[in-house]
Amino acid sequence: MTAIRLKDKTFNLFISEQAIIKGIERVAEAIVQDMTGKSPLFICVLNGAFMFASDLMKRMDIPCEIDFIRLSSYRGTRSSGAVKEIQGLVAKIENRHVVIVEDIIDTGHTISYLKNRLRVENPASITTACLLFKPEALQTGVKPDYCALEIPNDFIVGYGLDYEGLGRNLRHIYKIKN
Ligand code: IMP
Ligand code: MG
Repeated sequence: MTAIRLKDKTFNLFISEQAIIKGIERVAEAIVQDMTGKSPLFICVLNGAFMFASDLMKRMDIPCEIDFIRLSSYRGTRSSGAVKEIQGLVAKIENRHVVIVEDIIDTGHTISYLKNRLRVENPASITTACLLFKPEALQTGVKPDYCALEIPNDFIVGYGLDYEGLGRNLRHIYKIKN
């Protein structure tokens, strides 16, 4: 499928599943190298990062844990900047090596909010792994420590990312047609 339609918008095939997995394998190798002996705690940011977190975790051949937090900041195809915590963490993060697992860093507001929110609980370290990074859209100073793919400032869907709730199930990533 090279083009798909979600509600009122058309999207074209942009990044294949194979290319996505290649990027994730690279990130996984780097994390294993840096986190061996540290028993990291992954924090998956729902909803968008569920598929990335799953493929990343499968490649962690070191002791590690995962917990989930649910944040919301997006309306339609535009980031609102205001971040809401809809569902909190269960794990205690004090003295833990925390790795935030995000689907995409766009303006950077979500990741900045989350880092500040976690820092208060005194983790041993906080690093960020994102599937996608839009450097041109960044409005904060927060860059990812690990990133599978850098992309231009276009709205995309698939592999966990949605347009108004739809498209998360797609195995490839699609870019909005202007
Ligand atoms: P930020 O706070 O602007 O960095 O946005 C982060 C959140 O907005 C991500 O976790 C996504 O859920 C969502 N988001 C940003 N860009 C896109 C996109 O191109 N497609 C779908 N969701 C996006
Ligand atoms: Mg998200």
